[in-house]
Amino acid sequence: MRAVTVAAVLFISSLTQAGAPSSSPQLIEKGKTSYTTNCVACHGPKGAGDGVAAAALNPKPRDFTKEAFKNGDNAEAVFKTVSQGLTGTPMVAFAHLSDEERWGLAYYVVELRHAGMPAAPAAATKAAKKVGKK
Ligand code: HEC
Repeated sequence: MRAVTVAAVLFISSLTQAGAPSSSPQLIEKGKTSYTTNCVACHGPKGAGDGVAAAALNPKPRDFTKEAFKNGDNAEAVFKTVSQGLTGTPMVAFAHLSDEERWGLAYYVVELRHAGMPAAPAAATKAAKKVGKK
């Protein structure tokens, strides 16, 4: 169990240190373009899960702006979801897209999510700071 935790931590930190480019308007723009091509049919233009193909899916894509993510909703987690897909669901892996494009998608999905709940990130940061001070 412990080894698994250590491996997971190492994996995540290797992702964030070596793999993750920092977010930028250009990268998000790239993600938006890719989203329009690759994701909008299922996830809908604002990520509300209302794409034209969504009604026929089981499970249906959830509303990015409101519902909890199974696989985590920070950029690293979304990058992983996009890279590996969710087994047994219509959410397939998009591993054929470049790393850069998948990071763009990840940051764009995070952006869509925050657009639906603008107060959340600021409140979370504040709470984290408070805890840190004690
Ligand atoms: C064929 C339809 C389809 C396409 C195309 C598609 N998705 Fe999905 N996606 C789904 C479904 C269905 C789910 C929900 C799966 C579930 O509930 O387990 C999902 C779930 C997700 C999740 C949430 C995972 C979680 O942790 O809850 C993310 C993030 C996501 N998709 C991103 C994308 C991105 C980015 C693209 C484009 C590169 C994309 N999807 C393309 C159908 C699709």
